[in-house]
Amino acid sequence: MKKVLFVCLGNICRSPTAEAVFRVKVQAMGLQGQVLHDSCGTAGYHVGEAPDRRATQAAQKRGYAMADLRGRQVSDADFQEYDLILAMDRANYAELKRRSPTRFHSKIQLFLKYGSSDEREVPDPYYGGDEGFDHVLDLVEDACEGLLQRLRDEP
Ligand code: 4NP
Repeated sequence: MKKVLFVCLGNICRSPTAEAVFRVKVQAMGLQGQVLHDSCGTAGYHVGEAPDRRATQAAQKRGYAMADLRGRQVSDADFQEYDLILAMDRANYAELKRRSPTRFHSKIQLFLKYGSSDEREVPDPYYGGDEGFDHVLDLVEDACEGLLQRLRDEP
């Protein structure tokens, strides 16, 4: 069993999108039971909230449901609990490392290292237009596929 945690700032746009896409692809590959997943934010602004409506609508158009997800902030226990802690951008990555003991730092990675493009950060779509949410989905779908191939080939 591999445990994967997706992390952004608010846990209402990027990381719940990643979780929603990932769980569909886990099912499609028959890996449920072998891969466990969750998402959280480094900030606590949106704890308990449903994802941003724009993110939910963009995901729904591609067949991913995410309205059931609720925001939570990263906790100390997460660093012990999860095997892979995947940051959406470099600020989240730096904050996760700042908050955690050094022995857990190898678990903390940029999510897009599993993607096929040169982009290394999922841009924050919160203050932008709808096209930002589609771009998040493009990057997230690609990186989820790369991540799942890796998890399947190197369990
Ligand atoms: P996320 O987007 O980190 O992808 O969930 C954001 C959501 C909320 C805020 C910033 C980014 N905010 O400042 O409230």
